[in-house]
Amino acid sequence: MKLFIDTADVKQIREAWGWGIIDGVTTNPTHVAKSGRKPAEVYREICDIVDGPISLETIALNAEEIVKEGVALAKIHKNVVIKVPIIKEGLKAVKRLSAEGYKTNVTVTFSPLQAMLAAKVGATYISPFVGRLDAVGHDGMDVVRQIKTIYKNYGFTTQVLTAAVRHPLHVLQAALAGSDVATMSFDVLEQLYQHPLTDLGVDMFLKDWEKVQALENAKREMPNTKHQTPNTRETSNSKLQSSKKPQASSAKNRG
Ligand code: E4P
Repeated sequence: MKLFIDTADVKQIREAWGWGIIDGVTTNPTHVAKSGRKPAEVYREICDIVDGPISLETIALNAEEIVKEGVALAKIHKNVVIKVPIIKEGLKAVKRLSAEGYKTNVTVTFSPLQAMLAAKVGATYISPFVGRLDAVGHDGMDVVRQIKTIYKNYGFTTQVLTAAVRHPLHVLQAALAGSDVATMSFDVLEQLYQHPLTDLGVDMFLKDWEKVQALENAKREMPNTKHQTPNTRETSNSKLQSSKKPQASSAKNRG
C-alpha cells in the first residue's frame, strides 16, 4: 500500500520524504490555510521535494471553472493530481479532465455509491474520509471495503485512497482491506514506526553491547596470562645464560 502525507507543511514533507517511506502528498485548502503561506509558493516547494503524486485541490464549484483551475494546477508540475470534491459539477469536470489525460483525485467522499460515480467518470483516485465517518458513528473502513468490492466487481481501475486517517489502526485496516493508498498526518506516519517492545529490545541490546565493550577495554588494560608466559620465560632464560657466562669466562681465564 502506498503512503501519502496529508499536509501543506513543507518542513514535515521534507522530513517524511527523507525517511524513504512516503510515495506522495495530499493537500487541501485547510492545510494551505494552516501554513499561512501563498498556495503557489507552497505547491512549488512540495513539487520540488517529492517525486510522486501530489494532490492539489480545486475551489471552483462549476465544471468549467474546475477544469480551468485544475489545468492551471497541473501546469505547476507533471506530478500534480487535480483534487476535485465529489459534487455533480466536480464529476463533470473530472470526466473532461480524465478524457484529456489529467490525473484526478475525487475527494470528500463518504459513500461507496459516490465512489462508483467517480470511477465511471475516470477518476485516478477516490478519497473516502474514514475518520470523519467514524466521528459520526459510521464505520469508515466499511466504506473502503465496499468500494474495493464494487471496483473489483466491475474492473474499475480507480485507486482507493483512504483519507482522514486518524491513527495507525486505520492504516492497518486500510492495508488489510486492500486500499491502494492511505494518506495521513505527519504524526500518524511517525506512530507507524513505534512499538514499545522495539524500544525495550533496542535498549537491552545497547546495554549488553556496553558490557561487551567494557570487557574488551578491561582486557586491553590488564596484561593477560598468555602475555605473561613468554616474558617470564625470556627473563629466566636470559638470567640463566648470564649466570652461565661468567663461569665460562672464569674457566678461560684460569687456563
Ligand atoms: C485527504 O486527502 C484530505 O486532505 C484529508 O484526509 C482530510 O481529512 P481531515 O481534514 O478530516 O483530516
